Amino acid sequence: MIASSTTYPEFLKEFPEYAQTTSLDELRQRDYARLDRNGHVYLDYTGAGLYGESQVQKHHELLSREVYGNPHSSNPTSLAATELVEQTRQAILHFFNAPADEYVVIFVSNASGALKLVGESYPFAAGGHYLLTFDNHNSVNGIREYALARGAEVTYIPMVLPEMTIDEQKLRQSLTLAKPGQPNLFAYPAQSNFSGRLHSLEWIEQAHAQGWDVLLDVAAFAPTNPLDLSRYHPDFVPISFYKMFGYPTGIGALIARRQALAKLTRPWFAGGTITVVSVQGEKHYMAEAPNAFEDGTLNFLSIPAVEIGLDHLSAIGLPKIHDRVHSLTGWLIKELLQLTHSNGQPVLKIYGPTHADQRGGTIALNFLDDKGNVIDHRSIEEQANRVKISLRTGCFCNPGAGEIALGISSGELSACFTRPDHETHLSYDDFRLCIDGKASGAVRISAGMVSNFADIEAFLRFAKSMAI
Ligand SMILES: Cc1ncc(COP(=O)(O)O)c(C=O)c1O
Repeated sequence: MIASSTTYPEFLKEFPEYAQTTSLDELRQRDYARLDRNGHVYLDYTGAGLYGESQVQKHHELLSREVYGNPHSSNPTSLAATELVEQTRQAILHFFNAPADEYVVIFVSNASGALKLVGESYPFAAGGHYLLTFDNHNSVNGIREYALARGAEVTYIPMVLPEMTIDEQKLRQSLTLAKPGQPNLFAYPAQSNFSGRLHSLEWIEQAHAQGWDVLLDVAAFAPTNPLDLSRYHPDFVPISFYKMFGYPTGIGALIARRQALAKLTRPWFAGGTITVVSVQGEKHYMAEAPNAFEDGTLNFLSIPAVEIGLDHLSAIGLPKIHDRVHSLTGWLIKELLQLTHSNGQPVLKIYGPTHADQRGGTIALNFLDDKGNVIDHRSIEEQANRVKISLRTGCFCNPGAGEIALGISSGELSACFTRPDHETHLSYDDFRLCIDGKASGAVRISAGMVSNFADIEAFLRFAKSMAI
């Protein structure tokens, strides 16, 4: 398919580094054959990464070889499970180059679980602050409810169009808001799950210097970018492993700095999180981290599949995946920007960086008609479904980025939310009416580990078919 493409040589000329990533084409044929066998054009890697069949086989073999019992005991089958769980913790620290005396890996069910753990346990209080960027996933936004409930101030740092960067001047001003000695938490994503924009990792130390603990959301960043935790030292790092290598689902981690973890207080205790609990004495003693943060029985049969996934990613090499995604995304953006209707109007609008720099493989856009009106993203998804293109539409759980990109003002939003009939319930269609028929969402395409030139060409064909 690639050889027959007339534009492939042009693409290679512009992105010569792509030629160094052809081992991923072989990997796709070998380990992801189901993609082409079933005719899928998968462009939702920010939704979920894809697993190689070999990962599942290795996991299956591992489970078939031994008997694994519930950890937290000293019987042989329990110890066998504990050993694998602890081995996986070490593998995660190793993958992120995180010193074991500085960081702890806490297993959770996904990145949202990691974020909830921080939110419910962080010592927010009056005088304290939760500072976050507009560009954040809802599971980071949601921490504001814990902060507000405990009297902390919540401040959002706005974004700047058209690049969808964070307003650096506002960031610098906001970082001065931390009151010394108070609980101050600053949260931002290393890569936007809306626009693909990369945000500076240098902000971590700038924030530390001004008295903030830093939560760096790497859920969208980690699948295609190396993160070196011996170089950067965020306090809380939430991750979903299915986003990195597709399998297993249901396992995430909070990689936390020991010194920041010591500030957290859990709102309850559960099986596995304590050393001693007394009913008559009405007393409980928390275990050390990580146990104090892992409620009940871990998903001990799936956790070993995380090490298999990390090995899979390491064997390929993140730099290679990064180069491939960078090339394909750069080319796709360039080609998309050239598409016009017969009257010269653009076929689409891209939100965020319209070049390959400082961005990952996620592109948010809307299709426009020949008068410049946005075409409802739901109709785009329906049309893409018909040609087996898996893309995602909506606001991708990132309303802050969506509102800025789509030009929805805070005035419009509060007028909508304060209407008596919208007090407790608001449907999507009502919301659209409220904001005067403006687009309330976008189309997101995202390239990943085994994306290839043919996937990009398929999307370009689809985009061209929208021109009238
Ligand atoms: C940047 C970012 N943070 C957090 C999450 C939440 O991940 P999960 O749904 O696996 O909990 C996502 C999911 O898309 C994400 O993209």
